[in-house]
Formats: sequence, structure tokens, C-alpha cells
Amino acid sequence: MEMIERASEEHAKKILYVINESNRKAYKDIIPEKHFREPVLSIEELLQDFSRMSFYVYRHEGEIVGVAALHVLDKDTGRIRWVYVLPEFQRKGIGTALVTYVEHEAERFGLKKLWLITAEKAYWAINFYRKLGYRQTGRIERPWGNDLIMEKEIH
Ligand SMILES: CC(C)(COP(=O)(O)OP(=O)(O)OC[C@H]1O[C@@H](n2cnc3c(N)ncnc32)[C@H](O)[C@@H]1OP(=O)(O)O)[C@@H](O)C(=O)NCCC(=O)NCCS
Repeated sequence: MEMIERASEEHAKKILYVINESNRKAYKDIIPEKHFREPVLSIEELLQDFSRMSFYVYRHEGEIVGVAALHVLDKDTGRIRWVYVLPEFQRKGIGTALVTYVEHEAERFGLKKLWLITAEKAYWAINFYRKLGYRQTGRIERPWGNDLIMEKEIH
């Protein structure tokens, strides 16, 4: 059984739960309180993103436990967004499976490069993307700390 599938709007509430739950656990301690958004995403914002990105979900025993999105920016370039796995399902290869799936989709769409933004303090995410072959190409200063831009060429 294929565990990753393209999501539709009917999955929005479950996806929102995964993103907000995972974000709170991961970022509450590294983002200063006055900049921390809880929930990080509203259903309206998610539905808006649905209209411009493809969302993919990972199911465990039927339940959505992980998500990743691909935003195609131009004919060569895509941005990876919203990579979140529920805390109790982390470190089991689900994030890797999701990003690898997104990369295959990007290849299928003819893209040549993928990039993403992650917080410099989110060492787990940086480790995760490095292991997948993404390299830092830029840094953005934010009031809550630096964000890093990471990129990977795909073929
Ligand atoms: C980042 C995230 C999606 C990774 O998903 P995951 O399913 O746990 O990742 P995987 O099991 O595929 O991990 C692959 C590798 O990433 C690295 N990694 C993952 N979690 C890590 C952690 N907590 N600490 C250090 N390295 C970590 C490791 O190198 C790991 O390989 P290993 O387990 O063989 O050592 C997950 O931690 C998450 O949802 N975090 C909160 C949200 C987030 O930060 N999203 C990304 C930025 S927007």
C-alpha cells in the first residue's frame, strides 16, 4: 500500500492539526515568545496555500501523521514548504520519505532546483535537509533569529 499521496482540501483539517501540533512542540522553545505564533497556521491560510501548492501526506494506519508541500515558482524552480511530522512519529524516516516524494514530483514536473527556508536554530531540520543533500546558500536575518536558505539541484 502506498503511504504517501497527494492531498486534497478534504484533508485540510487533519493537515492543519499535524502542522500546528508539530510546530508548537518544535519551535516554542527556540522562538522568543513575542514572535511565536500559536497556531502557526489558520485554516484560511492553509486553504489559500492549497490553491497554489501541492500538498502530500503520509498515512500511518490510515491516519495522516506527516505532511509536505511543493510550491512551483517557475519552470525550473520549486520551494519546499510545510514539512511536518507529528512528534510521536518523528525519527522513523517519514520526513525523508515525504521530501523524497516531493523531489520525485518536482522531477516529474521538469524542475531543476528545489529550495527551502528553515530556522538556523532548528538543528534537527538542518541535519535533516543536509542529509538529504540540501546545502546552505543564504541567510535571512529575522527578529527571532536567522533563517537559512537551503538548495538542492535535482535531475
Ligand atoms: C524535520 C522533520 C520533518 C524530520 O522528520 P523525521 O520523520 O523525524 O525525519 P527522518 O526520520 O526522516 O530523519 C532523517 C534524518 O534527519 C536528521 N534528524 C531528524 N530529526 C532529528 C533530530 N531531532 N535531531 C537531530 N537530527 C535529526 C537525522 O540525520 C535523521 O537521520 P537518522 O534518524 O538516521 O539519524 C521533523 O523533525 C519535524 O516535523 N520537525 C518539526 C517541524 C520542522 O522543523 N520542519 C522542518 C522545517 S519547516
